[in-house]
Amino acid sequence: MLICPKCKEKLNRIDNSYKCINNHSYDISKYGYVNLLLSKTNAGDDKVMVDARYNFLSKDYYLPLASSIINVLSDYINKDSLILDGGCGTGYYDSVIKSIYPNIIGYDISKDAITKAARLNKDLTYFVASSNDVPLESNLFDCIINIFTPTFEKEIVRLLKDDGILIIVSPKDNHLIELKKSIYKNAYLNEEDIPSFNNLYLDKCVESISKSNLSKEDLDNLIKMTPYFYKTSKDNLDKINSIDCLDVTFAFNIYIYKKRTNC
Ligand SMILES: C[S@@+](CC[C@H](N)C(=O)[O-])C[C@H]1O[C@@H](n2cnc3c(N)ncnc32)[C@H](O)[C@@H]1O
Ligand SMILES: [Zn+2]
Repeated sequence: MLICPKCKEKLNRIDNSYKCINNHSYDISKYGYVNLLLSKTNAGDDKVMVDARYNFLSKDYYLPLASSIINVLSDYINKDSLILDGGCGTGYYDSVIKSIYPNIIGYDISKDAITKAARLNKDLTYFVASSNDVPLESNLFDCIINIFTPTFEKEIVRLLKDDGILIIVSPKDNHLIELKKSIYKNAYLNEEDIPSFNNLYLDKCVESISKSNLSKEDLDNLIKMTPYFYKTSKDNLDKINSIDCLDVTFAFNIYIYKKRTNC
């Protein structure tokens, strides 16, 4: 099902590597993933963001979101369905979803993220790749999941079966509002842009909203895994460091798309 990023021929697993008929070869790392990104420059989330995300998610604050995704899936797919987690990050959602839907494959453009995902879910297949050129055969998936990660319609449409679904998760307007209020004088609400596509249509949107009391350490991880860490001045970051705990809202939209029949 994996294809060679150079010549697009099928990849076959031989011992500890994947090879195509043209003798292009990709080693499986000691953590169990394969790097199919041709560019050697590091891309995607860096180690600081990945470690922070991994530590934060390990506390299960986003378990309500993972459970909502499972509920959505139960309306559309069955236990044998094949799921692709695009931009899967550290593999947290896979670790929850696989208890019901075990056939999950994941990729991310960040090697640091995929290393974490492969170590967390040794039973799943992971590879490093970009969502705009995914080294997988066409028409394979019953479901593709994009959680807070860029979506590339052309590849989604190519990879989904005709009756497959795309799930996109993005923040609601009041996501992390208390955190923002504690940093900025005029905390603004996020804009809720509904993603729109030429060859996919929106079937349903479901909300997931929860609130948790976060410790100093949680707040530090949370800020480091968001773009605020890079956009916020040192003075404003210091404001967060002075907080001992904070109730924070987690609010998400889960959009479900279907493929239009003529594509
Ligand atoms: C905000 S994180 C979300 C990770 C994961 N979905 C989660 O929710 O835990 C965004 C992820 O998208 C990845 N990413 C960014 N651009 C990408 C691309 N073009 N192809 C694949 N992954 C990408 C980043 O490396 C990062 O892991
Ligand atoms: Zn090849």
